[in-house]
Amino acid sequence: MADLFSKFDPLIEMREGLLASGVTDPFNLVMEKVESPTVAICNGRRTILLGTYNYMGMTFDPDVVAAGHKALDEFGSGTTGSRVLNGTYVGHKAVEEALKDFYAMDHAMVFSTGYQANLGVISTIAGKDDYIILDIDSHASIYDGCALGNAQIVPFRHNDVEALEKRLKRLPPEAGKLVVLEGVYSMLGDVAPLTEMVAVSKAAGAMVLVDEAHSMGFIGQNGRGVAEAQGVIDDVDFIIGTFSKSVGTVGGFCVSNHPKFEILRLVCRPYVFTASLPPSVVATAATSIRKLMDSADKRTHLWENSKRLHAGLRQLGFQLGTDEPQSAIIAVIMPDLETGAAMWEALLREGLYVNLARPPATPANMTLLRCSLCALHSEEQVGEILEMFAAAGRATRCIS
Ligand SMILES: Cc1ncc(COP(=O)(O)O)c(C=O)c1O
Repeated sequence: MADLFSKFDPLIEMREGLLASGVTDPFNLVMEKVESPTVAICNGRRTILLGTYNYMGMTFDPDVVAAGHKALDEFGSGTTGSRVLNGTYVGHKAVEEALKDFYAMDHAMVFSTGYQANLGVISTIAGKDDYIILDIDSHASIYDGCALGNAQIVPFRHNDVEALEKRLKRLPPEAGKLVVLEGVYSMLGDVAPLTEMVAVSKAAGAMVLVDEAHSMGFIGQNGRGVAEAQGVIDDVDFIIGTFSKSVGTVGGFCVSNHPKFEILRLVCRPYVFTASLPPSVVATAATSIRKLMDSADKRTHLWENSKRLHAGLRQLGFQLGTDEPQSAIIAVIMPDLETGAAMWEALLREGLYVNLARPPATPANMTLLRCSLCALHSEEQVGEILEMFAAAGRATRCIS
């Protein structure tokens, strides 16, 4: 019998090699207690969280938590059903209303995760004779959405407007085209030139979908994302987002002004053939989204944190993913996986949690320590974070 697991042998070997060096498994951390959006207990130690994507710190917001408790009491622990059968409660409608108000758009459709939102929308709207033109550094859920559908896939170089335009010009003018972009790319924390990209896409007759998972709540005057910040939100056909970052719970969505959008509820398989979100989750999401509409002060503070951490890390001598801070993600580039894992562990010992990211998730085979800031990180915490990076960096000889 052929062992179907033999294809994983190289990965198993690499993992065992890394763990044999004595390093803690960076992909198996347990949070024993979570005290706030910025502090948890890990390995019995108080740890500052700098890798949770909890950008707006909504997870412990008293109104959000109270809404979850209330829904749990009134509607029970789960819906046990699909949105198109018994799984649509008033709470699902309420969170879709909150999204429509947040984005000032006509339609909102909530999925069980952001992953499923990409999977569902991309695979459903781009059919057999259509083309999906996507940035090569797109998130796995975008690629998986392409794999689930039947459209032809045309990748272009990351954030390269000319490459996008060239690809579009080579396609049959009459063919259906969907350009898929992200507002913020989560590996390096860099922002897409959406103004130019949306313009060339529209000139070629393409529809545009922008995944704003890492910008919702934070970027743009109303927190609607990079498309808002760059003044092109009215030209974007579909915005995909998630509740698992700034909103502070779990779930995904698509908002749109397309007049036929609602038909997706009947034809989108990752929406139809799965259970809907629990009532407590949609209640927390709706409350959080409504509060995010009025969070200008938090947005300002988060920008300050991002700028300070970027400048401080640079001053310490770390190589960063972007020359300037462009989002709430700051990626520290490590020379190799071994050094990255050692630095990750040294930071954890200091009392700091960041994300270790390695190929194939990262662009250009990079090993990264990804930091995601929170609007609730205090000035003092950002200072502590920089001290911990200095100590861990020297201990692992990443900096001198
Ligand atoms: C760009 C992007 N899109 C979609 C998702 C999926 O979101 P969710 O966690 O809700 O499945 C993520 C999550 O990491 C993401 O980074």
